Amino acid sequence: MNKRLPEPDIVVGGAPIWRGWLGAAAQAEMVAALRDVVAAAPLFSPETRWGKKMSVQMTSAGRYGWFSDRRGYRYIERHPSGTAWPPIPEAVQAVWDALVPEARAPDCCLVNFYRAGAKMGLHQDHDEADFSQPVLSISLGDAGLFRIGGTERGGPTQSTWLESGDVMLLTGPSRLAYHGIDRIRGGSSTLLADGGRINLTLRVVDQGASRQQPASSCVPVEPLTSRSIAKP
Ligand code: SIN
Ligand code: MN
Repeated sequence: MNKRLPEPDIVVGGAPIWRGWLGAAAQAEMVAALRDVVAAAPLFSPETRWGKKMSVQMTSAGRYGWFSDRRGYRYIERHPSGTAWPPIPEAVQAVWDALVPEARAPDCCLVNFYRAGAKMGLHQDHDEADFSQPVLSISLGDAGLFRIGGTERGGPTQSTWLESGDVMLLTGPSRLAYHGIDRIRGGSSTLLADGGRINLTLRVVDQGASRQQPASSCVPVEPLTSRSIAKP
């Protein structure tokens, strides 16, 4: 890790966490920017590859958005409505620039919204082309119980509550760690008037230019057809 960076408050399962990296004003500013993102690219509930609707609602900003349906998990260049994803808000990009200044620019900001009762099963973030690049997570609103294990499914795990303003990195040995959200602690934050938790993950989706491979071996990024639109 870059020596000039502030030390994380804690490292859980190899993932450094900066508690309260964003103060109250910065959190409110970020939520305002996210309202614009959601206005341009409304939240939707993707289906898993097994056809089950996820309890988490999602949208994205940036060049790519993460998507899932019965055909599998992938990045796509347009929102299911057909419009381009809105740009990554400057305040979000600034967190990346501050904590991972040597990384390539993120080309996706996945926005996850958890209402009370929503959760996310253990999974790896492995739909990106270059695992040398980190995933940066920003939590806003109600606390979420984050669980992280190793790179093999079924191994031991550790848990920590991610609170509003916390920033975490999946990097190095934790980049491909299994992780998920077990539950949301409703009423633990007043940031969102109606409650709930927002998690942003900034990702580098594309292969770097210096390591560009033939088009046929690049990460599949397909335009979405009307057949595969997940209804909210
Ligand atoms: C994710 O793994 O995409 C989200 C994790 C979180 O909500 O903290
Ligand atoms: Mn993930």
